[in-house]
Amino acid sequence: MSINIVQLSSAKEVTRTAATIISNKISSERHCVLGLATGKTFLPIYQKLVEMYENGEISFKNVTTFNLDEYVGLGPGSSASFSHYMHRALFDSVDIEVGGFNLLHGAAECPPKEAIHYDKQVVRRGPIDLQLLGVGLNGHIGFNEPGSPHNSRTRVVELCPSTIAANKGDLAGLDVLPSHAITMGIGTILEAKSILVVATGSAKADAIQRLVNGPVSESFPASALRNHRDVTLLVDGAASSKCKP
Ligand code: GLP
Repeated sequence: MSINIVQLSSAKEVTRTAATIISNKISSERHCVLGLATGKTFLPIYQKLVEMYENGEISFKNVTTFNLDEYVGLGPGSSASFSHYMHRALFDSVDIEVGGFNLLHGAAECPPKEAIHYDKQVVRRGPIDLQLLGVGLNGHIGFNEPGSPHNSRTRVVELCPSTIAANKGDLAGLDVLPSHAITMGIGTILEAKSILVVATGSAKADAIQRLVNGPVSESFPASALRNHRDVTLLVDGAASSKCKP
């Protein structure tokens, strides 16, 4: 098993290619289940998908989505929540049905129960046809931080200080920064039929090098993807600059 690496000339090309892969998947399935990621990498991709919808090139009526993760304590009303991000970036601007998107409730009364319930939903309504993934600087996927078992399910996790620092810009305005998150587990993610990993910019070069050339190990969560049979990695020149051929 090996990752299909697609090296593109610019971040713009990565965005265009990712949007094309996603829209082709939506068109090719009678009912398409997508796993969605947040983060800065995906904002231009969702923007491109909205443009394609506005031009009549795609519809989300036959799409069910499951988001990867959410901060514990942040409900959909919080502008720092991934729920808010998804509404603003995609859901409010396309024709997805109200019951079509699934988001974790960060402000649920009992986050561990919310995690178990969500995992069951993914299994019941899945398998996910295409899972979108970004990569954290420390190799996290979703919020599966280093040390996460490769067979882990959706659960509450403690965030690494470096992850909180990397995401601080999006958390500005909160009195207390979240220390925990609910994330789909690595085992849950690996059940997707196909996975599209996207990384752009030189800050991701070390993480991409470890993903492509490093050993499969719990200390680098993204390396678990090497054991999946259908992973495509889209990178620009900066993100792939440290990969060995
Ligand atoms: C975040 C999210 C991930 C995201 C990753 C990269 O913390 N939990 O789902 O893919 O880190 O984010 P960015 O695209 O902003 O670099």
